[in-house]
Amino acid sequence: MPRSMRALVALEAGEPTDVLRLESRPVPTPKAGQALIRVKATPVHASDLHVLRGRYGFSPEFPAVGGYMECVGHIETLGPDTEGLKAGERVVAAAIPAVPGPPVAGTWQEYLVADARRLLPVPDHLNDSTACQLAVNPLTALLLVTRELDAQAGEWLLQTAAGSTVGRLVIQLCRHLGIRTINVVRRRSAVEEITALGGDEAICTEDEDLMQRVAEIAGPAGVRKAVDCVAGPVGAQVSQALAPGGELVVYGALSTHRQTDPAALTIPLQARSVIYETKTVRGFWLNRWFGTASPEIALHALARVRDLVADEVLSIPQGRPFPLERFAEAVALAEAPAHGTKPLFVFEDARDEDDG
Ligand SMILES: NC(=O)c1ccc[n+]([C@@H]2O[C@H](COP(=O)([O-])OP(=O)(O)OC[C@H]3O[C@@H](n4cnc5c(N)ncnc54)[C@H](OP(=O)(O)O)[C@@H]3O)[C@@H](O)[C@H]2O)c1
Repeated sequence: MPRSMRALVALEAGEPTDVLRLESRPVPTPKAGQALIRVKATPVHASDLHVLRGRYGFSPEFPAVGGYMECVGHIETLGPDTEGLKAGERVVAAAIPAVPGPPVAGTWQEYLVADARRLLPVPDHLNDSTACQLAVNPLTALLLVTRELDAQAGEWLLQTAAGSTVGRLVIQLCRHLGIRTINVVRRRSAVEEITALGGDEAICTEDEDLMQRVAEIAGPAGVRKAVDCVAGPVGAQVSQALAPGGELVVYGALSTHRQTDPAALTIPLQARSVIYETKTVRGFWLNRWFGTASPEIALHALARVRDLVADEVLSIPQGRPFPLERFAEAVALAEAPAHGTKPLFVFEDARDEDDG
């Protein structure tokens, strides 16, 4: 009899709470080059919900196990050709979509098989909440600031949704590297936290004019570097606040979530400003980067963020644990305004459990 496990499965594309079901599925068997991971914790990112709604950059074949980004777990067994890893080791598995396809396996299940070349061992002192969020947001922050924008000490970096997990990591990383941040938030109550994290300046769109404040802080020319994950009119204002020759990297579109009006899905750029001030507005998508980077380069970058977190340069806010059964609450929390903490699906530790 094959062993069975619990998995949170989307029967079809749709509103997550409508299409998700808790199912029993056989525990998979790792093939050559693969490891079987017993999942301990895995986050619910807004992007996971976007995938289920059929509004993300890839679509799985339904029915599909949910969770497309990352998890932490113990290696239960290894297939052939998996040198360098040991059964029992605690590892991070980042979602690895074969661009343009979906990742190998959903993470919202008790066991999954993963490419052994992409597993990152994590030290014991990083708890499961931190470890299961190590790949996506910290790596995005690192790649945006260093690889995409090559921001330098002393430069200004303007960012939106600065209170998001990515935003908080950008603040901490920039502080470490000597880059000065201008942090845009939509709630006055978020400003204190931004300052406490080491953000140099904060702009609250609730009661301040973004472009005017950027001009006051960085000078009338504006900033040379910016990242945006809000899009819509806020993204457009960020592009306006760029200095001539400036660069804006758009990596999210939070204001477009759940919107259906095509006009609400855009970033309305000023053509004259983009042309005559030779500004660059381009996208970044970690999944594409993962899909094109070699396993060695991806693992090397992941090891860098692991070390930044282990050395307490970067701190990832602790998530709120949920069992799979309470998926409706976890899904609601993931997108609730001012949710602060990230919902995580957690599973009992295999070593604490009586399997008999
Ligand atoms: N391109 C990539 O590869 C990549 C990788 C990682 C993440 N991302 C994207 O990065 C973004 C942040 O992800 P996360 O996990 O860090 O988010 P998160 O921790 O869940 O936080 C969401 C944040 O966004 C703010 N927010 C939500 N809707 C907003 C809106 N319409 N206008 C302004 N602010 C808004 C929230 O503000 P309140 O606190 O006021 O509610 C909150 O601070 C998402 O869009 C995600 O998809 C992209």
